[in-house]
Amino acid sequence: MKQFEKDFLLGAATAAHQVEGNNIYSDYWAQEQMAHSSFVDKSGIACDHYNRYKEDIKLLADAGLNTYRFSIEWARIEPEEGNFKQEEINHYIDMIDYCKENNIEPIITLHHFTSPAWLIKKGGWEADTTPDYFERYTRYVLEHIKDKVNYICTINEANMGIQVKSLMERFKKQMMAQAKNAGGDNQVQMGLNMQKMLENQKLVALENMEVFGTASPQIFNSTARSEHGDELVKEAHKKARAVIKELNPNIKVGITLSLHDIQYIDGGKDIADKEWVDEFTHYLDAIKDDDFLGVQNYTRSVYDKNGIMSAPENATLTQMGYEFYPEALENVIRKVAKDFKGDLIVTENGIATDDDKQRVEFISKALDGVNNCINDGLPVKGYCYWSLMDNFEWQKGFALTFGLIAIDRETLKRTPKPSLEYLGSYIK
Ligand code: GCO
Repeated sequence: MKQFEKDFLLGAATAAHQVEGNNIYSDYWAQEQMAHSSFVDKSGIACDHYNRYKEDIKLLADAGLNTYRFSIEWARIEPEEGNFKQEEINHYIDMIDYCKENNIEPIITLHHFTSPAWLIKKGGWEADTTPDYFERYTRYVLEHIKDKVNYICTINEANMGIQVKSLMERFKKQMMAQAKNAGGDNQVQMGLNMQKMLENQKLVALENMEVFGTASPQIFNSTARSEHGDELVKEAHKKARAVIKELNPNIKVGITLSLHDIQYIDGGKDIADKEWVDEFTHYLDAIKDDDFLGVQNYTRSVYDKNGIMSAPENATLTQMGYEFYPEALENVIRKVAKDFKGDLIVTENGIATDDDKQRVEFISKALDGVNNCINDGLPVKGYCYWSLMDNFEWQKGFALTFGLIAIDRETLKRTPKPSLEYLGSYIK
């Protein structure tokens, strides 16, 4: 095992909605309450991280880790349009301060999938006004946290709407062909319940009318994104970056992208190349001036002339149905480094499994890959395991366990898994 230098950012990641609990003003919360919701669980109290963050950050620090990536919840900061909540930004400032007291570098994400429900009523992630709203929220946050943080991710997995689009198209085709099952839905690195989403379409449309005033609310990542929507996401990123740089030019700014290790076999090259353009290269114009890119990877996807292939028969599958393939991370880092010239931070990489030994093996192989890249001079500055704790895996609920810390769903008691200590042992 090769350890990292002390200045390497090594830690774990979470997202507000998945861990905090009671994020009642958000669009995801509203969707979860619907009678025909595609969510198998409601986020509810989640991990109560909102109240127990000190205990969680302490466990991270005690394991020897030095970085915590977490998100600020827009729906808490601005629960109604234009009504900003000082006490909520104070909460995040307290979290940042607590990280620093424990020698933890906070990496902040401004948008991790959830948005305030009011934003969706105004057209959500397909509305021309959304980048301006995001800019205004970013300004409010930055005016308060100004020189307290060094790293900000504007938008998490900005490219996922495009992945959802192609997954939905593929899934529909397969349903029409009455395919018995659609194979692992590893085309999006997030817990989506496609089957349920499609079955319930009509009923959900009615409920959406009631809740969001539109039959097809444009929620980040639950809906397929148009090309126009994709441009709006880029614009929102650029506007947020400009505000951050205006208020504190020292903060390093980046976006995060969901990146598969795209491979191909006979006849699959053209499709694979196109996938990589959708997933990565077409974002280059929007991110080329960023300080870093947040690389998020969980597995590979392999294409042949008919499109994406199922995992090989002898493959081990994770709880998500992904192929166990930690080597993917190294391949992805090498690929993005060819075109993106800023720093690289692995902002997510991990495995959903109930076997912590398998998690340790995954981490060990993934970090071998990171070390290989660093040895070859690639600017990899950090690695955040997804996730610090077992949490709310979106539509797939609490059953999927990515965490380094187990959470008892009854008592919310935290129990560190051996993998937490293991990850911490990588710092010199
Ligand atoms: C993602 C996410 C996380 C997911 C993770 C596991 O970026 O998709 O940032 O919210 O929980 O990827 O699926």
